[in-house]
Amino acid sequence: MNKITAAITGVHGWVPDYVLTNKELETMVETNDEWITSRTGIKERRILKGENQGTSVIGTGAVKGLLEKTGTDAKDIDLLICATTTPDMLFPATANVISHNVGAINAFSYDLQAACSGFLFALSTASQFIETGKYKKVIVVGADKMSSIIDYTDRQTCIIFGDGGGAVLLEPDTEGYGIKDSILHTDGSGEQFLHMKAGGSRKPATPETLLAKEHYVFQEGSQVFKFAVTNMASVAAEIMEKNNLTGDDVAWLVPHQANKRIIDATANRMGVNSDKVMLNIHKYGNTTSGTIPLCLWEYEKQLKKGDNLILAAFGGGFTWGSVYVKWAYDSK
Ligand SMILES: CC(C)(COP(=O)(O)OP(=O)(O)OC[C@H]1O[C@@H](n2cnc3c(N)ncnc32)[C@H](O)[C@@H]1OP(=O)(O)O)[C@@H](O)C(=O)NCCC(=O)NCCS
Repeated sequence: MNKITAAITGVHGWVPDYVLTNKELETMVETNDEWITSRTGIKERRILKGENQGTSVIGTGAVKGLLEKTGTDAKDIDLLICATTTPDMLFPATANVISHNVGAINAFSYDLQAACSGFLFALSTASQFIETGKYKKVIVVGADKMSSIIDYTDRQTCIIFGDGGGAVLLEPDTEGYGIKDSILHTDGSGEQFLHMKAGGSRKPATPETLLAKEHYVFQEGSQVFKFAVTNMASVAAEIMEKNNLTGDDVAWLVPHQANKRIIDATANRMGVNSDKVMLNIHKYGNTTSGTIPLCLWEYEKQLKKGDNLILAAFGGGFTWGSVYVKWAYDSK
């Protein structure tokens, strides 16, 4: 029998309605549309507003849409993994909340945290459960409500992040479609440049941590930029080389959407033309675990069976990686 691969057989995204534009940010911090556009490529991002609206709202919206469009019964889902850095609560897992909301009563579910590389780490993890032959239907969600941990008086970070996410369905394939390879990395020394200081077990929340604004994203942007531009490009080039792919063989680069300049550098290094690069950073900013499934969702109609996709990401940790996918279906 042919080797079992994990094929992506459907994708769906979900973003909240509220649009936070660069113009509105100009009224909140000392910044301007020209600076944000030229330094990052971002024009607007979505914000999930309202009481008791956590990341599970985004994940639930994406999974409901996914089940509906693929004609999948929620009871047939074996496993649901949610990649997120902004879980509804420290526990239980946001994946459990999503499974409950959609009626996936036979699934076991858990969260995976790898910051902006979360979706790729979860996709690679999930694919193993399919490849062993043990499970038949696995959902991977990448979703984040970044607005819940952003200081909207800090112009270095508030211009970058937004809320949103997406989900994919993985099923077994024996014709060679699906997740063909992955290369994943972490380097814990990166913690100093991108982290949240309080609210975890090392420094639980106190009135002092609140006053010191330690429950927000702390980022040394230029350090993260340097790291990202080198490593995202390297790991994308590495997976191509390992699989004997040239720029011409790649139908699409699906990059994490953190900064347009980082995306351009990655495409250049890979020898992939800009018209083959999925891009939606101008609309959503950096949705952390959400960027890659949101891209796949928006470009789904342009994807053809057999297309070679290189997914690439980097993020806090540091974490970074690339996944090579052979697309398994023509979109109807
Ligand atoms: C954050 C980021 C956009 C900043 O861009 P940059 O070109 O590195 O800018 P710098 O931080 O060097 O700042 C350059 C100048 O712009 C200013 N500046 C910073 N943010 C600004 C803003 N929102 N509006 C206007 N000016 C701003 C800085 O104060 C600095 O001014 P100075 O030269 O007078 O000190 C960029 O570093 C970046 O994208 N980093 C990676 C972030 C990322 O991907 N994070 C997610 C990880 S998954």
